[in-house]
Amino acid sequence: MKKGDRLDKGAVVQRDYETYAIVPHIAGGICTPEILRKIADVAEKYGAKVIKATGAQRLAIVGIREEDLDNVWKELGMDPAAAVGMCVRSVKFCPGTTFCRLAQQDAVGMGMKLDEMYHGLKLPAKFKIGVSGCPNCCADSWVRDIGLIGTRKGWKVVVGGNSGSKPRIAQLLAEGLSDDEALELVKKVIDRFKEYKKPQRIGKLINEIGIDRFKKEIGLSVREEIAEKIDTSGINEKALHNIGYGLYIVGSRKDGKINAQIANTVFQVTSEPPTIAVSINKQNLTHEYIKESGVFSVSILSQETPLPFIAGFGFYSGRDKNKFESVEYIIGKTGAPIVVENAIAFIEARVISEMSVGTHTIFIGQVESADVLRSGTPMSYSYYHQIKRGTEPKTAPTYRKEEPKKEAKGDLYQCQVCGYIYDPAEGDPDGGIPPGTPFEEIPDDWVCPVCGASKKDFVKIK
Ligand SMILES: Cc1cc2nc3c(=O)[nH]c(=O)nc-3n(C[C@H](O)[C@H](O)[C@H](O)COP(=O)(O)O)c2cc1C
Ligand code: SF4
Repeated sequence: MKKGDRLDKGAVVQRDYETYAIVPHIAGGICTPEILRKIADVAEKYGAKVIKATGAQRLAIVGIREEDLDNVWKELGMDPAAAVGMCVRSVKFCPGTTFCRLAQQDAVGMGMKLDEMYHGLKLPAKFKIGVSGCPNCCADSWVRDIGLIGTRKGWKVVVGGNSGSKPRIAQLLAEGLSDDEALELVKKVIDRFKEYKKPQRIGKLINEIGIDRFKKEIGLSVREEIAEKIDTSGINEKALHNIGYGLYIVGSRKDGKINAQIANTVFQVTSEPPTIAVSINKQNLTHEYIKESGVFSVSILSQETPLPFIAGFGFYSGRDKNKFESVEYIIGKTGAPIVVENAIAFIEARVISEMSVGTHTIFIGQVESADVLRSGTPMSYSYYHQIKRGTEPKTAPTYRKEEPKKEAKGDLYQCQVCGYIYDPAEGDPDGGIPPGTPFEEIPDDWVCPVCGASKKDFVKIK
């Protein structure tokens, strides 16, 4: 008959359903030669197949017979680790200031304390703690239910991380904490988590209630934390940067000619009948065309759209060049151009209302036709900025001035077409310019990675 686990004896049955693995508790994997010798001697005496180093920094003795379990534990003189069950399974910690050159905090001291206090403590779900002496996080703190990370200013405490089949990165609870403050905070988290009855890991609980609610429950009110920082006396433009948009090509026609431009300000206004709105700068040729024909098209760009393609429509005017020269498009029902290259869907609309707002006109159109061109992820404005490192011209309603990075070293040069700033520390690896290359040493045929402007369109700004 197949054997099962013997958790009463700290033993887990192996794949052969015959022999067992046992895991003596060794806090943080810090072990003396005597302990290692004893483990090796006992393993050998009882015919264990191997000794396996575990992910929780312990040593599993594998291949013990059931009848030997009691004697093995007696001869080891050690306690079993809480390797299974709904409890604090492990406190993993790195060498910290005890051994590591890079350490900023005493991870061993902190880890030992946490191990003493919590190892094996019963909780609603499995729970792991990681303590790393510096932001390199060798003890995987960001994927532990509670993680501590040493910094020059003290401990950073993060909560809700796990690896496993659905990995989750922990979220910040507090930073700059002393040893005692960090221990106090860990206690609050564990005490609160204990009160929950549902058997789910703390990360899942936080997904359900939100990190701010969890913080409030352990006495870290978000309101108190940020109240003193709130300033209602002025306009911080960075707040507006948090409004979400997509990236579109808005096209129109006039007297048998077509034109189009990039716009991020497209949104649906009503569903019955479907209407959409777009904000277009009065100086743009596209504005002139929409005013005249009363129609516009919207091609929704995919996340993979290359920057030079966007630049062709967003940094140059149809007054200066034919934007459609080498671009694939079709003419829609309204006569407006629908760009099919890099687009995943399109919408065509007829203007039913418009509103002049200073530099821009908001055109509201009733949808006349729309279709999906292919599957894909639409480009979001934040993806365009953060991942593609894109910029926009002053004619965009959401124009953001490019600011040089504070830590930049060496002369910075700015593209006069799109505002992109060349920082020699970063170089332009995609364009074959390694980090550390001064602007002067870039080959003359190099072009701006955002808009494709030539090297001579750059001016020195620092
Ligand atoms: C990322 C990005 C977003 C933009 N968003 C808008 C917008 O919402 N409305 C607008 O009028 N212009 C916007 N622009 C600027 C126009 O695309 C740009 O002024 C274009 O050169 C106008 O071309 P046209 O004169 O051929 O119409 C944006 C440009 C970029 C690069
Ligand atoms: S986390 Fe930092 S202190 Fe700890 S072992 Fe890694 S590098 Fe060293």
